[in-house]
Amino acid sequence: MKSLEGKWALITGSSRGIGQQVAIGLAERKCNIIVHGREKAHLNNTLNMLSKYKVKVHFVVGDLATEEGVNSVIKGVKTGSISLDILYNNAAIMNKWKPVWEITKQEWLETFQVNLFAMIALCNAFAPDMKKRGYGRIINVTSGIKDTPNLAPYSVSKAAVDKYTRDLAAELKETNVLVNCMDPGWLKTDLGGPKADHEVETVLPGALIPVLLDDNGPSGKLYSAQEFRDSKI
Ligand SMILES: NC(=O)c1ccc[n+]([C@@H]2O[C@H](COP(=O)([O-])OP(=O)(O)OC[C@H]3O[C@@H](n4cnc5c(N)ncnc54)[C@H](OP(=O)(O)O)[C@@H]3O)[C@@H](O)[C@H]2O)c1
Repeated sequence: MKSLEGKWALITGSSRGIGQQVAIGLAERKCNIIVHGREKAHLNNTLNMLSKYKVKVHFVVGDLATEEGVNSVIKGVKTGSISLDILYNNAAIMNKWKPVWEITKQEWLETFQVNLFAMIALCNAFAPDMKKRGYGRIINVTSGIKDTPNLAPYSVSKAAVDKYTRDLAAELKETNVLVNCMDPGWLKTDLGGPKADHEVETVLPGALIPVLLDDNGPSGKLYSAQEFRDSKI
């Protein structure tokens, strides 16, 4: 099993769902973890789950819907004097299901703020230092959602995430800061709902593939976690 011993990862939205699985998968590989959610109380479950691994665990809180919340996450990491090696941009929201014509500008803005603008702010905060140190893995969680106009703010924000990831990969070419997208598949979480195709645990080990890439490996690519379901990595 490839080890991430001594590395530090921030996983946004790791209080539950897919982010929680990613945090556990990384801790199993000896990676130090920074857990994130909107409030400390939301993090207790994940912190308990991580306590059995022999890794350092910190937490940061912040609502990514606000600039103040985004800054609180960045400050939380930086005041811990941690050099971030892995940024797992996982947190996202889905707009309320409604006819596409009735979706308000406010709903578009809120979804883009959490799903895209906060992600960009976090990349801006941490990627330059990764570049300086010659190592970084940034994973932006996307979605395979299509033909669902009622969720257009969500799906369009994910299309923007895909494009942004490719642009950032071009910016970070030949720096060993690898930036890739991860599509988890349709999973039973609070966001995915109970009718989803797969259990949340099936996101592992595939979600870890873009973290475990060899130095100067692929960047600007899409990894589909479900394709690695039965893999030993
Ligand atoms: N589930 C699926 O079927 C599916 C499919 C494709 C893509 N995805 C993507 O996978 C990622 C994780 O989804 P999930 O299903 O695990 O979602 P989830 O169960 O709803 O969990 C969402 C996580 O994001 C955090 N979060 C939500 N709003 C936030 C905000 N305003 N500020 C900061 N943190 C916030 C939550 O923290 P709190 O606990 O503090 O609220 C929680 O940790 C998302 O990017 C989603 O788009 C999911």
